[in-house]
Amino acid sequence: MAAGPLGKEVLSEYERKGFVLAKGMFSKEEIDLLRRAAKEDRELDQHSFGRGDGEGGTVRLSLWNHPGDTIYGMFARCETIVNSAETILDGEVYHYHSKMIMKDAKVGGAWAWHQDYGYWYQNGVLFPLLTSAFIAVDPATKENGCMQVLSGSHQMGRIEHVLTGDQAGADMERVHEAEKRLELVYVEMDPGDVLFFHSNLLHRSDQNKSDKPRWAMICCYNAARNDPYKEAHHPRYTPLHKVPDSAILEAGLKRFSDTSSNVAWLDSAKDESARSLATS
Ligand code: SIN
Ligand code: MN
Repeated sequence: MAAGPLGKEVLSEYERKGFVLAKGMFSKEEIDLLRRAAKEDRELDQHSFGRGDGEGGTVRLSLWNHPGDTIYGMFARCETIVNSAETILDGEVYHYHSKMIMKDAKVGGAWAWHQDYGYWYQNGVLFPLLTSAFIAVDPATKENGCMQVLSGSHQMGRIEHVLTGDQAGADMERVHEAEKRLELVYVEMDPGDVLFFHSNLLHRSDQNKSDKPRWAMICCYNAARNDPYKEAHHPRYTPLHKVPDSAILEAGLKRFSDTSSNVAWLDSAKDESARSLATS
């Protein structure tokens, strides 16, 4: 069984730091299932694409807009995660997208310093009322390129982003100044831990030069009251149908090919938030 959603007692920490780490939010059985499903999922693999990291490597990820009814969808829709997001955003949320970050052993690319809202701002999202749930599928350590965050950086508001490789990278002059004043935290995680973080939190991660993969699934939520004012490649308000946590184990190894529900894959051709920076 999942450990249950975050309570209101974490809000002051989230507001101060811009993130909160929920240790053991999912059981070994649940996260083992997700890992097994993902690593042998041909469709997930076929929809993966790369983004140059500006350091000579490439990050690989798959990204889809609607949660659907697969094992991945059960994680994205389960009460533990969604109720946590609703506590953080103080009201109804909807699924903005999910992605699998496939940071493979030896070749996994880096993520440049960025705020997610640096991307999403481009999509007609008026307020930074979004949160992401980073679910560790594999152990995430300093060696295999765990997430790094600048604690409290969400309080800077959105900063300018420029194209860095194929990624939206934050203005490094400001990042360097922020680094002098804010604590840099390496968020090491065990499988089943979940990191909730603010859409304006500065984060990055190193290339994976180790022999251990570092996969993670990130589910992103927007506040229902923050419906984007224009069409973009991520959805406007779409009601999210929550499921009890028990739906995860009930789904078993239900992969993308085991369902007819359309999750609206985004391949690189449609991945426009970063690319629009090249022309703006
Ligand atoms: C992301 O920012 O979407 C991914 C960061 C990471 O996997 O390190
Ligand atoms: Mn990000």
